[in-house]
Amino acid sequence: MILDGKALSNQLDVNMKAEVAELKATGLSPKLVVIIVGHDPASQIYVHNKHRKAIKLGIESIIERREADFTEAELLQLIDQYNCDDSVHGILVQLPLPKHIDEGKIIRAIDVHKDVDGFSPESVGKLFNNSHEHYPVSCTPKGIMTMLSHYHIDPKGQHAVIVGDSNIVGRPMGALLLNAGATVTYTHILTENLSAHTKTADILIVATGVAHLIKAADIKPGATVIDVGMDRDENGKLVGDVDYDHAKDVAGAITPVPGGVGPMTITTLMQQTIELAKVADH
Ligand code: GUN
Repeated sequence: MILDGKALSNQLDVNMKAEVAELKATGLSPKLVVIIVGHDPASQIYVHNKHRKAIKLGIESIIERREADFTEAELLQLIDQYNCDDSVHGILVQLPLPKHIDEGKIIRAIDVHKDVDGFSPESVGKLFNNSHEHYPVSCTPKGIMTMLSHYHIDPKGQHAVIVGDSNIVGRPMGALLLNAGATVTYTHILTENLSAHTKTADILIVATGVAHLIKAADIKPGATVIDVGMDRDENGKLVGDVDYDHAKDVAGAITPVPGGVGPMTITTLMQQTIELAKVADH
């Protein structure tokens, strides 16, 4: 089975577009600000896609582009401007930031009520405590959970193996799967004999940024394989962290790249923007 994130995202968009129109009719216009510093090529594409999706759904979208020499103090000031702007519901600072800027400091500067990425220590704490309050969660792992649910893949009692320990994907992904009742193994760059772990996964999540790291032989037959990678192969072609062409014959369900996880990330961002707008309005 191919897990078609693009089709699911388009399906979810229909409801979101209608919801945004209803909110606007009541005088509430969801608004997202995306701040990007520098010229990281992947970030440029992500930010462009986020803006395009917001416009499609009727969500107001502002992109603030700054040169790579923008200072930390200037960025903090820009964030503060939007923290104070009641018409703005979500603030997203695209990562990675240039080296001279402290990412943790920037994330903590965003008003937690506008933390649409779910990166604030408060949101992350709620996630790891399995809080039953509403709080934003990092969009890629949350979008993956939406996709699993749509395809009736229930993590309860399953062995989920995460490859990659990033704050944006790996760590929150493991917490979400644990909260959903999975047994979770985290693996990362220091893990010895990675394949011995991945071969035991009922649900395998790969988010490393290493093209074709996971081969067919690393996958348990019938497993669900979620590929978060957006890499370039030696010919410059966009590929994932999983060798899809061979892995698809072993996996029970698998996401393609592109058209798998990527569209779900952006759809989740829009869902969370709408959610923050609704909460702010109360
Ligand atoms: N860079 C890669 N993914 C993300 C994301 O989900 N949010 C932000 N802010 N930056 C990213």
